[in-house]
Amino acid sequence: MKITVIGTGYVGLVTGTCLAEMGNDVLCLDLDASKIKVLNDGGIPIHEPGLLDMVLRNKATKRLGFTTSIEESVAFGELQFIAVGTPPDEDGSADLQYVLSAARNIGKYMTGYKVVIDKSTVPVGTADKVRETIAAELAARGVQQEFAVVSNPEFLKEGAAVEDFMRPDRIVIGADDQRAITAMRDLYAPFIRNHDRVIVMDVRSAELTKYAANAMLATRISFMNELANLADKLGADIEQIRVGIGSDPRIGFHFLYPGCGYGGSCFPKDVQALISTADENGIGLKVLRSVEDANDDQKHVLLNKIRSRFGSDLRGMTFALWGLAFKPNTDDMRAASSRVVIEGLWEMGAVVRAYDPVAMNEARRIYGNDDRLVYADSPSGAVAGADALVIVTEWKEFRAPNFDAIKLALKHPVIFDGRNLYSPEQLRKKDFEYFAIGRR
Ligand SMILES: NC(=O)c1ccc[n+]([C@@H]2O[C@H](COP(=O)([O-])OP(=O)(O)OC[C@H]3O[C@@H](n4cnc5c(N)ncnc54)[C@H](O)[C@@H]3O)[C@@H](O)[C@H]2O)c1
Repeated sequence: MKITVIGTGYVGLVTGTCLAEMGNDVLCLDLDASKIKVLNDGGIPIHEPGLLDMVLRNKATKRLGFTTSIEESVAFGELQFIAVGTPPDEDGSADLQYVLSAARNIGKYMTGYKVVIDKSTVPVGTADKVRETIAAELAARGVQQEFAVVSNPEFLKEGAAVEDFMRPDRIVIGADDQRAITAMRDLYAPFIRNHDRVIVMDVRSAELTKYAANAMLATRISFMNELANLADKLGADIEQIRVGIGSDPRIGFHFLYPGCGYGGSCFPKDVQALISTADENGIGLKVLRSVEDANDDQKHVLLNKIRSRFGSDLRGMTFALWGLAFKPNTDDMRAASSRVVIEGLWEMGAVVRAYDPVAMNEARRIYGNDDRLVYADSPSGAVAGADALVIVTEWKEFRAPNFDAIKLALKHPVIFDGRNLYSPEQLRKKDFEYFAIGRR
């Protein structure tokens, strides 16, 4: 099939590349010329395990190309995936300007039948808006041209995006047009050879399914974070509680890890957008509102622990920070807890010496050259001479460090662990003061 993917971010680039890997001809459009230059020069603009090799392989076979030309991209694919950003607007609702601008471009230039696929996470009713936008452009041109609009939300996880896309646990297709449904089934058939995982539903339900999934996952995290804070006060151990409840098959073990708050480009904005959709419809989503509040508080949990231990005047102190990305295996720092911690430490007068295996360039892009944020080239470089260590991302390389060396390097043997990486007992034996989340 000939496919156009609009937007070469975390979702668009993975989608386009994986579709090319299955033998399709794919052209990816981005209006950010610097991203297309990186891609045409043999790199990728994001960190995503396994993606660079796949991009290079498919570029070499000419099944995958990149362009900034809207006209060329509209002409190319019968299937047009819209995978542009849907950031939060000022009121928390999803900002649809990029999605609708992509739709306008399709309407402006299309000459044959197109299936337009909303891959971006978009509020219920967006497919209708995309359809109206394209129809208005066609009408302005005085052209009659058939097209279909399909919702196909993406469930990939950053850091495991290629694997998730190549082996999806489900493919949701929201459509009412039989020709489009057949095209989508044909497209995804190679990804689900062992058994059918396509779930066809109406468009609105598909749009809401994506928000429901992220809202449920965010709810589990906030629930565990609140319980962990209570466990802290009660002298109980959230890790034991996690095992105790996760073994109930109705609950399960996934997404029960407490920490210093969820971040990333999806949960925070999707929870907000769903609350906003509900508000517009006169339905107060009380649970979800609390999920968001709890998460905002949780991002300060490490700062509160630091304040309790060292006071709120941290002038002259340096804190080592392990992790900048919102989670391991990505360079994405959108809404990352690290940002709240960095900015909170600055407010109290401290300097931060940070190490992250892949996100330091992203941090430089966000914070520029600020003397209060120093970058170390290794975990041990970050702790050398620092007052204490703060951990916000559970990268594998942080899981089994040399504690004796850390103790020698730090001015105070104090670790604030926002991801519960270590055994409190082991650290106590080594005479560390260990502050984790809900651990005894
Ligand atoms: N990141 C994730 O893990 C993830 C997972 C599932 C769903 N989603 C959803 O997918 C969508 C994209 O997310 P992302 O993280 O890939 O975003 P992103 O910001 O990484 O990428 C979006 C890209 O679209 C480009 N763009 C914007 N307008 C354009 C236009 N009119 N034409 C061409 N290109 C345009 C931007 O330049 C950018 O490169 C969002 O709706 C997001 O909620 C993201």
